[in-house]
Amino acid sequence: MSTQYDNVGVNYEDFKAQGKLPIIEKYTFFKLLGNIQGKHILDLACGSGFYSRLLKQEGAAKVIGIDISKEMVKVARSKENNNPVGNEYQVFDVATMPHLGDFDLATAVYLLNYAQNKEILIKMLSNIHRNLVDKGRFITITANPGFFINKSDLSKYGLKVVKQEAFSEGYNCEIEFLTDSPFNINVFQLHQSIYESAIKEAGFKNFSWHNMEIPPEAIKEYGEDYWQDFLENPCMIALSCSN
Ligand SMILES: C[S@@+](CC[C@H](N)C(=O)[O-])C[C@H]1O[C@@H](n2cnc3c(N)ncnc32)[C@H](O)[C@@H]1O
Repeated sequence: MSTQYDNVGVNYEDFKAQGKLPIIEKYTFFKLLGNIQGKHILDLACGSGFYSRLLKQEGAAKVIGIDISKEMVKVARSKENNNPVGNEYQVFDVATMPHLGDFDLATAVYLLNYAQNKEILIKMLSNIHRNLVDKGRFITITANPGFFINKSDLSKYGLKVVKQEAFSEGYNCEIEFLTDSPFNINVFQLHQSIYESAIKEAGFKNFSWHNMEIPPEAIKEYGEDYWQDFLENPCMIALSCSN
């Protein structure tokens, strides 16, 4: 499987280290997860394993990372080899992923925004649902259906949305990551109604949207004004699904 992330690897790591959006993403994600001690977690769209490693280090009993890009999985595996935390990584497209086990939690920091339409979104969510135990939860961060390209400039946070083209189920967007070697990625910003019906069709009974939160330390460090452009027009949003 060749994907748009195959040539990105180390540059994406730069974004995680230098960009300001990961500060918000990490805080909101872990706040929603709550206590993960002893949990079995399937970390989808794991990329280079940034969150897979943190999840294990924060107390998960077992973390399996999944990504469609064999190059990203190669980076994740080499990090595991160099500094083992006990994680396993496998290459799968979540839209066609088999049953890999019964997990307490599935996580995905940026996966659903690669579903180009409702049909693919339902396939991803159904495969996630069948990999969870009865009381399992799916916690994810995805493209905010309410984001508008012309409302604010997000460059100071490490990325720029350079295209937002409407189609019947949402928008096709292009994002430029402003790292030392900038790179562009295409994502899909599907409508909120498409998400909500796909979640139900996939078998989840409950879901809730959560606005991204700025950690108090980041407000202290950068000042409240610095975050206003993001808060007025957040490009991402969190979602929690359960039975
Ligand atoms: C923005 S990166 C996020 C990586 C990681 N979650 C993080 O936050 O550092 C998105 C990842 O999603 C992966 N991806 C895209 N579509 C996918 C799919 N259908 N199935 C599995 N992984 C996918 C990409 O290869 C890429 O590594």
